[in-house]
Amino acid sequence: MTAADLHFSPFDPEQTKDPYPIWDRLRGECPVYKSSMGSDEWMVDDAEDAGAVYVVTKHEDVAYILEHPDKFSSGEDKNGPGIPPEVLEELAKGLPLSTTLYNTDPPEHTRMRTLVGQGLSQQRVAENAPLTRAAAEELAAGLTGGSAELLEQYVRPLANRALLDFLGVPRDEQDQVLQWNGLWEMLFIPGLPVEDQRQAAAQIVEYQRWYERAVEDRRASPRQDMLTRLALAEADAGDKLSMAEIAWCTMELISAGAANTVDGLANVLLVLLSEPKRWEAVLADRDLLAGAVEEGLRLEGPTQWLPRTAAGDIELSGTRIPKGAMVAVTYQAANRDPEAFPSPESYDPQRPGLARHVAFGRGAHYCVGAGWSRMAIRTGIEVLLDTIPDARLPEDFEPEFYLPIPVLRCVTSLPVSWPTTG
Ligand code: HEM
Repeated sequence: MTAADLHFSPFDPEQTKDPYPIWDRLRGECPVYKSSMGSDEWMVDDAEDAGAVYVVTKHEDVAYILEHPDKFSSGEDKNGPGIPPEVLEELAKGLPLSTTLYNTDPPEHTRMRTLVGQGLSQQRVAENAPLTRAAAEELAAGLTGGSAELLEQYVRPLANRALLDFLGVPRDEQDQVLQWNGLWEMLFIPGLPVEDQRQAAAQIVEYQRWYERAVEDRRASPRQDMLTRLALAEADAGDKLSMAEIAWCTMELISAGAANTVDGLANVLLVLLSEPKRWEAVLADRDLLAGAVEEGLRLEGPTQWLPRTAAGDIELSGTRIPKGAMVAVTYQAANRDPEAFPSPESYDPQRPGLARHVAFGRGAHYCVGAGWSRMAIRTGIEVLLDTIPDARLPEDFEPEFYLPIPVLRCVTSLPVSWPTTG
């Protein structure tokens, strides 16, 4: 199906900075929209529809795709042609390449997920909560003088610090690990200059040495941290993660976890602070907070969309998607589908059916860090409610958004002020 006057590309930042109006049109007029304006770099050359991307916006279709990994693959080629040979040659000096959770399908995915998931269980998250609270309180103590820009002074350092504390990265090494991890992400951004990627790969080999030392250290003297859980994780018949799997999966956990938690906490704070009565309601009744976080993520979840590859020819909402085509699964369009969430633009932390939101995905690839992330976002907000209960955004505040990477969307700033005594 096509709509002649609709022109949308999920790769166009001008359209995706404010995606909701066009997603509403797509969902209503053309729920599986073939965009010929994909990104050449992201395309797999031999697909019948190379250069096209099928944008799926209805909640029902998004849920179907996420629940059928056999029909919509997360396999390695979904991001395009992959890492260039010169870069692979540099990486070969370090640990062997390994697949990760994000780019595998069952059954390989199931095995890895069982092992990695052990470190992110409810119990591990609960054990980590006091450490996350301590990080939040340390940062909140710096919010003095009656005004602050919460994104840079509180949200970003909190999400990074709390996640790396949870993993077990010592504080004095956290900046280095974040810098290395940024270089690792460069490997997966198609179209970057190959020489820049090759230089990044040389640093990533250094980074892998860091993992080898950290894992050996945890095996010799286990600690209460995620790296220890990954080092010791064991499934049936003694199956364990290899050193390369631990390194690649941890790089992915940092990459997926830190940015999403920064953007998720910032966007939920925006939802709460943009209407003082929402903030006052959670201030008065903390039991509303869990629902407020879910509703905030439904309205402004940071992950806009992610790719899948059609494993065979398939029809969805009346449109044929050919084998090998790239499919953009738009979580945030699904979260504003009026058929799934009546009056989708309104805020209701006690909304019936709120648990159906897909801000953390669904099915086999459901966010492995969702439990930790929820705890971190709730803790971050609770500490602000305790420290600056009267925080307000400017009355005429008009939020702007930026895209840290093409699939993530985050408010640009959160300038708050509050009355001070004396
Ligand atoms: C508000 C915060 C977060 C949001 C909105 C979010 C969103 C998502 C989404 C939508 C997916 C599904 C991907 C798919 O369908 O292919 C996902 C998967 C994933 N997330 Fe998160 N995430 C968040 C926090 C985290 C954290 C804190 C971690 C790590 C500790 C993490 C690690 C991952 C990983 C490794 C996957 C891949 C899981 C798999 O394929 O089995 N995420 N996340």
